[in-house]
Amino acid sequence: GCADDLAQRVVAWQRTQGRHDLPWQRQRDPYRVWLSEIMLQQTQVSTVLGYYARFLARFPDVATLAAAEVDEVLALWAGLGYYSRARNLHRCAREVMAQWGGAFPRTAAQLAELPGIGPSTAAAIAAFCFDERAAILDGNVKRVLSRALGFGDDLAQVRHERRLWALAQALLPVAADMPAYTQGLMDLGATLCTPRQPRCLLCPLASDCVARAQGQPEAYPVKTRK
Ligand code: ADE
Repeated sequence: GCADDLAQRVVAWQRTQGRHDLPWQRQRDPYRVWLSEIMLQQTQVSTVLGYYARFLARFPDVATLAAAEVDEVLALWAGLGYYSRARNLHRCAREVMAQWGGAFPRTAAQLAELPGIGPSTAAAIAAFCFDERAAILDGNVKRVLSRALGFGDDLAQVRHERRLWALAQALLPVAADMPAYTQGLMDLGATLCTPRQPRCLLCPLASDCVARAQGQPEAYPVKTRK
């Protein structure tokens, strides 16, 4: 159907045009995927690379991180900004040890209960590591989906944001590669479907994109300040 067509296009694009060689890809260790997702939330890939390598060298697994003092975690985070991420990272590691015996839970719903893991990050970890059919909806993906669908309602309103979540869920591939789909949506938003001057000529969704057909992709997403 139409939904699976969008997913197939995203997956095919990711396989041919996406990045597959980053250090947190090509493996499905939830500790490593979680760390990368937290670092990538507000920081670009080129900056994250060095921090990620140093962090893993000092804290190779969740037990080592949980056993450390928070000050040492903060010291390795210095320069990345948004230090609440580092404090929550340390809290989360301790909770995974205390509540889960050192093994990250395997569902998005359980992951989202942990400190610092919001619903979209939880879904990304579950999709990347455990193939869960869980929808992500971070800032980049809100832009991709609102444009593709012509979703023009104000995302500052919780009821409209919930509707876009439901649409994101409905668009998930039926039986396809969840990691490639999830990474593909993120990468489309980061590289082609940018806030200004999106590169629609290269986009695998262009032929069905409502915003593009209207001639104004930049009009989406609609988000007023509250
Ligand atoms: N931002 C958040 N998660 C990401 C990922 N897996 N790849 C690239 N950018 C991201």
